[in-house]
Amino acid sequence: MKNLRTLPENIKIQNKIVFLRVDFNVPIRNGKISDNTKILKMKGIVKEFLSRKAKIILCSHLGRPQKKGKKGLSMISLKKEIEKIFKQKIDFLDDLLKKNTKKKITLSKKKLFLLENIRFYKEEEQNNARFAKKLANLADLYVNEAFSCSHRSHASITAITKFIDSYAGKTIIEELSSLKKIFYKSNKPITCIIGGSKISTKIDLISNLIKQVDTVIIGGAMANNFLKYNNYEIGKSLIEPDKENTIKNIISETKKYKCNLYIPEDVVVAKNESGKAINKSLFEIQNDDIIFDIGKETIVSIRKIIDTSKTILWNGPVGFFEKNSFANGSNKIAHFIKNRTKKKLLVSIAGGGDTAAAIRKAGAMNGFSYISTAGGAFLEWLEGKTLPGLKVLEK
Ligand code: 3PG
Repeated sequence: MKNLRTLPENIKIQNKIVFLRVDFNVPIRNGKISDNTKILKMKGIVKEFLSRKAKIILCSHLGRPQKKGKKGLSMISLKKEIEKIFKQKIDFLDDLLKKNTKKKITLSKKKLFLLENIRFYKEEEQNNARFAKKLANLADLYVNEAFSCSHRSHASITAITKFIDSYAGKTIIEELSSLKKIFYKSNKPITCIIGGSKISTKIDLISNLIKQVDTVIIGGAMANNFLKYNNYEIGKSLIEPDKENTIKNIISETKKYKCNLYIPEDVVVAKNESGKAINKSLFEIQNDDIIFDIGKETIVSIRKIIDTSKTILWNGPVGFFEKNSFANGSNKIAHFIKNRTKKKLLVSIAGGGDTAAAIRKAGAMNGFSYISTAGGAFLEWLEGKTLPGLKVLEK
């Protein structure tokens, strides 16, 4: 990949409007932000632009409203938290397509503006050029600080760069340089742990990872697809429909590339999120059970794999870690990795907002070689794919 365009240090940005593409796609539970790491990460960046007397338009998506509906996904729900973290009052722009939006920004005494969830507009995911031009017209320059969204060909990530001076932000440069430094010196055997609930984003990526790593461990909701494929009852557990062919291909690819595929041997189930957690063998799962975590036998097997690995890539918690009763699997994995990384027996890279949150909850943040907040983008980068959001910022 060629070098990326960065904002020249000495460029005058006083009174200029910076369109800052950030990733504030934070987890929200019961209407509250359950992890604010992604917002905290932007504190220094925002502070620097404000100290250089620029105005900032913060643009992010939150969730997947075009698929799941807008309810609970307005950016207004993040406004207070952002104001608290940046110690700055915000003007919320509820509809960026209104004719007077640019004028409002220019005339406002405020320095910080927050756009409504950019995915409320269908044109965003269509990478629509007219829409991107409207976004570009709001500002004088564009900075992408969302490495974690740069695998998306969306209007606020790629098309916008055709209409405005555009740069890769400091956090993108830092992220890439850390990932390269660590990943390129990693040794075999390499193990990749894939979990989480964003099944559709990751399931197709696994086929490519198989070619590069020695073992793939599947956990979280993703494992349910594999269990179902192997004819186990999975009750009411989360599953991605119509993925039988993908699973079939993954299994045959693992054989072809001599990659060891590990799927849970036992699980922790409950009747609902607040129900009693019970460890069950795969044969004991009932049709009203929901799988929420990996089981004890599985944890023992994963430990053995970690103990013989030299590099671990971890993306996606292996259970519903937000609830203490289902956090055991992710906690234990975080500590096994931490212990071996600290003894310098392992190079460990974790990626994804939820994975970072699970590691933090386990108290293992200081035990990894590198933790990225990027999830899907991290996996695509590991596969060696060119991320479209970075491609458009090449020199
Ligand atoms: C993430 O959380 O990984 C980013 O915000 C990207 O979200 P997406 O997978 O919905 O595009």
